Amino acid sequence: MAQLINGKEISSQIKEEVKAQVTELAGQGISVCLAVIQVGDDPASSVYVRNKKKACEYVGIKSISYELPESTSEEDLIVLVRQLNERQDVNGILVQLPLPKHMDEDHVLLSIDPKKDVDGFHPQSVGALSIGLPGFVSCTPAGIIQLLKRSGIAIEGKHCVIVGRSNIVGKPMALLMLRENATVTVTHSKTKDLAAYTRQADILIVAMGKRQFITSEYVKEGAVVIDVGMHRDENNKLCGDVDFVDVSPKCSAITPVPGGVGPMTIAMLMYNCVASVSLQSRK
Ligand code: GUN
Repeated sequence: MAQLINGKEISSQIKEEVKAQVTELAGQGISVCLAVIQVGDDPASSVYVRNKKKACEYVGIKSISYELPESTSEEDLIVLVRQLNERQDVNGILVQLPLPKHMDEDHVLLSIDPKKDVDGFHPQSVGALSIGLPGFVSCTPAGIIQLLKRSGIAIEGKHCVIVGRSNIVGKPMALLMLRENATVTVTHSKTKDLAAYTRQADILIVAMGKRQFITSEYVKEGAVVIDVGMHRDENNKLCGDVDFVDVSPKCSAITPVPGGVGPMTIAMLMYNCVASVSLQSRK
């Protein structure tokens, strides 16, 4: 039977560690504050933003939130981001994506001070990651590294195959796995004979956004499988990009959905908020 990689438990551990650090900083007179901006009222974004604020409250990070109407102009949003960049009492700035269609996400992300970019989406953060300089790392891939390490799964020398090349998961995941000395293959929607690649994976990370697409034929015996997908099945139950029932007997370890990768994203956001304090003290 495959080892279940318990994201609920590991994310709780990380939040407890962050909480202790926040308390220690408070003892030194340093408070940590995250500004969260949501534009429009996309229901999924509202759930994410609510959960982020709840996590802040739990670990003792102050959160200030801006709920702006859908009709907000890109210019006005950037003016707000710039004001937050200047505020000494704000450590992290998070603009919830997706933004309304009339806005250019790249423009908005570029306006965030890289020292406050707790999502790790600014081009400077991505560039720093690619050449090994200090900077923020996108929360979901950073969380996956923690899941592996804290589950006792060695990464060095392993062949890691990633399915998906998004800026938020696939690409930073590849860079992080390289930093951990894995051999990395990135596959995507145009890859021919996907299974030929995924079957070579010691560690298979799936972020393709297709419900229960990865079946046992895509997986090598004994592989570690990480499922980043989040969908509803025909019975309205949460499920991932991986067909868990079919795949799990073949793996050595696997993340469930829910309770795998999902809870790690917010835990790593909290981690990044605390890390922002020391990043901001650098010249
Ligand atoms: N939308 C979906 N995931 C994320 C995330 O991690 N951060 C932000 N800002 N928006 C998102």
